[in-house]
Amino acid sequence: MSDPEDPQLEARLAEQETFEPPAEFVEQANVSDPGIYEAFADAWPACWERAADLLDWETDYDEVLVEDDEPFYEWFVGGELNASANCLDRHLDERGEDLAIQWEGELGDTRRFTYRELHREVNECAAALRELGVEEDDVVTMYMPMIPELPVAMLACARIGAPHSVVFAGFSAEALATRMNAADSEFLVTCDGYYRRGDALDHVSKANEGLAGVDHGTTTVVVDRLGDDLDHELGDDQVGYDDRLAEHAGADVAPVTRDAEDMLFLMYTSGTTGRPKGVKHTTGGYLSYVAWTSHAVLDVDPADTYWCAADIGWITGHSYIVYGPLALGTTSVMYEGTPDYPDKDRLWEIVDTYDVTQMYTAPTAIRAFMKWGEKYPAGHDLSSLRLLGTVGEPINPKAWKWYYRHIGEESCPVVDTWWQTETGGMMITTLPGIGTMKPGAAGPPLPGIGAQVVDADGEAVAAGEAGYLTVQRPWPGMLRTLYRNDERFIDEYWAEYSDPESDEWVYFPEDGAKIDGDGYVTVLGRVDDVVNVSGHRLGTMEIESAIVAVEGVAEAAAVGGAHDVKGEAVYAYVILEDGAEQSDDMEQRIIQGVEDAIGAIARPDTVIFTPELPKTRSGKIMRRLLEDIANDDDLGNTSTLRNPDVVEDIEAKVRGD
Ligand code: WTA
Repeated sequence: MSDPEDPQLEARLAEQETFEPPAEFVEQANVSDPGIYEAFADAWPACWERAADLLDWETDYDEVLVEDDEPFYEWFVGGELNASANCLDRHLDERGEDLAIQWEGELGDTRRFTYRELHREVNECAAALRELGVEEDDVVTMYMPMIPELPVAMLACARIGAPHSVVFAGFSAEALATRMNAADSEFLVTCDGYYRRGDALDHVSKANEGLAGVDHGTTTVVVDRLGDDLDHELGDDQVGYDDRLAEHAGADVAPVTRDAEDMLFLMYTSGTTGRPKGVKHTTGGYLSYVAWTSHAVLDVDPADTYWCAADIGWITGHSYIVYGPLALGTTSVMYEGTPDYPDKDRLWEIVDTYDVTQMYTAPTAIRAFMKWGEKYPAGHDLSSLRLLGTVGEPINPKAWKWYYRHIGEESCPVVDTWWQTETGGMMITTLPGIGTMKPGAAGPPLPGIGAQVVDADGEAVAAGEAGYLTVQRPWPGMLRTLYRNDERFIDEYWAEYSDPESDEWVYFPEDGAKIDGDGYVTVLGRVDDVVNVSGHRLGTMEIESAIVAVEGVAEAAAVGGAHDVKGEAVYAYVILEDGAEQSDDMEQRIIQGVEDAIGAIARPDTVIFTPELPKTRSGKIMRRLLEDIANDDDLGNTSTLRNPDVVEDIEAKVRGD
């Protein structure tokens, strides 16, 4: 372990540009043969059998990949399996008494589920859902914070072949209603509330408000998380989780046989337009892919105590708190609350207490830890850690090195993993047992993943030049379509760089990137109208619609501007209607409007009232310019605008803030 006070060491680390995987790690790594890249390339797509082999199949698949109807690829065709059986039943004989979930509440209360206990509760929950009328292929919505009943309900749905659609608990009532309506979802599992910074938060009122906006009949199951800390009454069509499970105590529900290509879940995510996209993931391909990447990248073994500190309401939690780790039979840690409650060392206390072996978190959290200072991790024994990971946004070399040194104590590889809701699992990162790490660059594409950085014409860019990230080959974890909207699926992801005439299909993730001479990709961020606030993906169009819905607002443009901790913060440029007054009250109503429509995470940090927005001669809002203003960047030539004078005015207002 390094001496925390050694200034020379700090200087050396600051200059060091590459890091090798620690020998001790390599020795025990799940994947350490550099030949894997070539092996996958030579045997593509059969190489993906290696991922499928990590699962138990009821019926073997006939074909690894079917490409008859591109870009509607099908994986492991003919195969049959059940995701819940893969995450639970198959572990019972060998490790039924091992911990599957180690949960800690914000107040310090703990709950532990062995594989046998989790299996039991999932069976009871599955029986209860069935009795309430949930049938195979019905979409069940979940609107829950980080409590164990969330993974239980997800796995119960998987068991009976009902796709789940988890809505992040921080999203608003309106966001819940939109998603339930879009999926025609007639079932909701939610809870009375949860703890944040020691306070009991009412969640069920928000859920009920959302349900009031659902345009069809619903049945709701409510988990009692807060006990006496929050009184709530169940409405008509609502039942208590505990009561229902008690009625089915000891029930056995046979896992429903699902085709590999049957939907496992839906996850709504933000895109360019105001309507969230329902990303569809399937049973065989998705589960194989998250099991494989958990094995190869996160180096998960059954004996580990692995912790992904994300929220299950986002894809990271689906793939790397629930499905990947449980498919591999490891212990997955779940924490309910905030990292700084009761103090800023809460996460390190958890690592220390449970002897966490791998930690996977987001750069925004790492930037906050840096700001709080190294004394917080230094007060705990973190020597159980063997690997660190990050996801969700670019991590700058300074934050990477801080994580490597102060959390990993220079003995853990750091994997910077690029992927998306749509990709299901990790796509670009170093393999921790093989690759040299370069802070700031995610790494090369994983074995079997064809990714390239191209220019606007689709030609590969030279090393060091910025371009657009593209994926040239399908992969098992890919989204299959946007729910009930195949056309939008093609438009959003395949239209830009594909050449259907010659059957060349290229996936466009809408990220900018560059690549170096060694094939390492640095992801630069979104090139569409999506902002990334604290690792949360938000559509600027959704924010703008919420703002213009506020009485007195005529027009709005929302963009992301750089923020020390959050990565990006929302800047809202607002034009008021004639007669409406620029006031603190108006600003508050705008902020509240965004919170009501989307959630507190989307609240604008800065609201700028302006008489006009900078527009091109054809009348399009110049968002790039508004971003430059928010970032205090050089604005370049503005003379081609229809209204160049407005720029100075807006700039002065932003600076004045
Ligand atoms: C960004 C989260 C740089 C990227 C798993 C992507 C990253 C979006 C990284 C997806 C990374 C994710 N480096 N940028 N390691 N990981 N991103 O769908 O812009 O919530 O398109 O999935 O996050 O966000 P999503």
